[in-house]
Amino acid sequence: MAEPTWDPSQYARFGDERSRPFTDLVGRVAATSPDAVVDLGCGNGPLTLSLAEKWPNARIVGVDHSPQMLAAARALDAAGRVEWVEADLRAWDPSQLGAAPDVVVSNAALQWVPGHQDLIARVVTALAPGGWFAMQVPDNLDAPSHALMREVAATHPRAADLTPAVTRLQVEPPEAYLEQLAGLGCAVDVWSTTYFHVLDPGGAEPDPVLEWVKGTGLRPVLALLTDPGEREEFLSVYRQRLREAYPRTDAGVVLPFRRTFAVARTRGA
Ligand SMILES: C[S@@+](CC[C@H](N)C(=O)[O-])C[C@H]1O[C@@H](n2cnc3c(N)ncnc32)[C@H](O)[C@@H]1O
Repeated sequence: MAEPTWDPSQYARFGDERSRPFTDLVGRVAATSPDAVVDLGCGNGPLTLSLAEKWPNARIVGVDHSPQMLAAARALDAAGRVEWVEADLRAWDPSQLGAAPDVVVSNAALQWVPGHQDLIARVVTALAPGGWFAMQVPDNLDAPSHALMREVAATHPRAADLTPAVTRLQVEPPEAYLEQLAGLGCAVDVWSTTYFHVLDPGGAEPDPVLEWVKGTGLRPVLALLTDPGEREEFLSVYRQRLREAYPRTDAGVVLPFRRTFAVARTRGA
C-alpha cells in the first residue's frame, strides 16, 4: 500500500496538545551535555528544534520519511541548526550517523513503523555508554476515534481497501516495551498517561475530533478516498458518530487520549 502523505499544516492545528507528551517525555531524559541527539519521526520540526534549545551544544539530527514534513521542518529551521535526514525508519541504521548517539527520542512516530521493536533494538544497542532512548506512542486504538473509524470503514462500499488501511497502526502494551528495554540491559522508566485534551473551547469548530484525526490516523482513509462522493460517504457517517462519542461540554470537546512512554538508559559512563 502506498504511504499516505502528511499535511504539516493540518498536523500543526493541534500543536499545543501534541507537544505536551513530547515535553513530558524529554523531561525524563537527564542527559546534561550530549554530543549527538536524534529525533526519529521528527515530523514538521518544532519539537526537534526544542531539543536544540535544551542542548545548545549538541549535534541534532531529525529523521523522517515524509518530504512534506521535512520541508516544513527546514522552513522553520532558518538557522540550519538541525540535520534533517529523509529516511524510512524501517531500514534506518544508526551507524549512518557516524558516531554513537547519546540521546535518541521518538515521539508519536513508532506506531507508524511496522516491526518497530527491531528498530528499538538497533537504536538502543547503538547508543553511547550511558546513552538515553526515549519514546512515546499513542495507546488509543480502542478509543472511539479509532474504533468508529474501523466500524465505518467496514460498512463502506470500499471496505476491502479501507480495512487494511485503518488497521495498520500497531503498538505494544507498556509492559512489552519495559521488558524489551530491560532485556537490552537498560535502566527503564515506563508509564502511561491519559490526557484530556480540551479541543476548541471557543466553539468555532463543529468537528474538532475529526479535524484532529485528519492530521494523523485518518490519513490512510483520506488517501484512498480521493473521489469526493466516496469520501463524503465515509465522512458523513464518521462525523456524526464522532459527534455522538465526543459531545461538546462547557469546557469544549474533550478528547481523552492515552499514551505510553518509555525512557531507557544504557549502562556505563
Ligand atoms: C504523528 S507525526 C509525529 C511528528 C513529531 N515527532 C511530533 O511529535 O510532532 C509521525 C511522524 O512519523 C513519520 N513516520 C512515520 N512512519 C515513518 C517511517 N517508516 N520512517 C520515517 N518516518 C516515519 C511521519 O512522516 C511523521 O512525520
